[in-house]
Amino acid sequence: MFQIRKMSSEEVLKLVTCTAPVNIAVIKYWGKRNETLILPVNDSISVTLSSNQMNAKTTVTASPSFTEDKIWLNRELQIKSGRLSLCLEEVRANARMIANPPVNPEWKVHVCSENNFPTAAGLASSAAGYACLVTALCKLYNITGDTSVLARRGSGSACRSVYGGFVHWQMGVREDGRDSIAVQLAPSSHWPELRVLICVASDSRKKTSSSVGMKNSVETSPLLKFRAEHCVPKRTREMIQAIQDKNFPVFAELTMKDSNQFHAVCQDTYPPCVYLNQASHAVSSLVHQINSSSHNLVAAYTFDAGPNACIFLLEKDVPHFLALFRYYFSDGASEFIRGETAVESKLEDSEIASLSMDKIPGGLKYVLVTKVGDGPELLGEDDHLMDQNGEPLFCSK
Ligand code: PMV
Repeated sequence: MFQIRKMSSEEVLKLVTCTAPVNIAVIKYWGKRNETLILPVNDSISVTLSSNQMNAKTTVTASPSFTEDKIWLNRELQIKSGRLSLCLEEVRANARMIANPPVNPEWKVHVCSENNFPTAAGLASSAAGYACLVTALCKLYNITGDTSVLARRGSGSACRSVYGGFVHWQMGVREDGRDSIAVQLAPSSHWPELRVLICVASDSRKKTSSSVGMKNSVETSPLLKFRAEHCVPKRTREMIQAIQDKNFPVFAELTMKDSNQFHAVCQDTYPPCVYLNQASHAVSSLVHQINSSSHNLVAAYTFDAGPNACIFLLEKDVPHFLALFRYYFSDGASEFIRGETAVESKLEDSEIASLSMDKIPGGLKYVLVTKVGDGPELLGEDDHLMDQNGEPLFCSK
């Protein structure tokens, strides 16, 4: 039985700060077979993106003097959601099983979390956020071993952000979800030439949240059932092989087909969930036209539950695509290209003439250049987001 330790007045709070990355699925997760445990209807595969460009950073601490669990997200105190509470309780349940946890699991926690990229841009922030929260809490309580099961309880896709590189979320078969875990297929160093361009679309319309969208799809889309049973298992095996072989054309084709099928399921949902906009369709068309004129697959698009395209390509093709995106989608605003330093090539008039594309000035707000990255990282005391009393630093600034 766990002994409730009292913290003496001289004892200092244990603060833990971590970062965790965003991941982009190339085989999509869409649909739960168990809503509470967040168990998916199919396997999924993702690429973890570099924390240099996009990450969540979280500080956690616990104290007997805290009266309630408090979470500040991007400087705002949150009203605790069911998901957040469930995730926290699951971590505490694990901590209670440890013989002598360094921090009493019965104490209330304070959590302060920030993203280094705008959440308003509609980029997958919950995956990085929950992966970060769980990693930091596990360090606080000294919970070792697989953390993907715990991250999954916050948001399904978060379980893939606890690893770097290329990650496979195995759906599992058990009712209790213990085998629904993420495993690393290959580390970030495996495919150093791979690059990712995040095309942030200028569309801030509120879309159906992924949880609501998925629930509607499971309830109404016959295509979702067909996809989960007949398409994803084969595609997953082929994707694992393509990643192992660093076979870009196969990787690209599977990525695009799977994104297209996911959005077909969204369209098959009643009422449909529409996530793509005019710029999204134009980016897809541009990628297909360039692949076709290259007589090779040199780029692949994928879209999550929003209009932003995520483009996978090799380093050598980045300058060409940056120039194309600027030409067709920029309205001339500064800082159109962000992230990793990258050059842009000069476009030939003959190429523009050969493409069947209309300009959509302002269709993209900016393009973020990034690459494959590592999993969560533990930071030092200089990076804490809270002071020694467990209050957010931004409050005292
Ligand atoms: O983890 P959630 O509930 O945010 O769902 C993510 C769903 C997609 O981003 C559309 C697909 C995926 O596999 O990440």
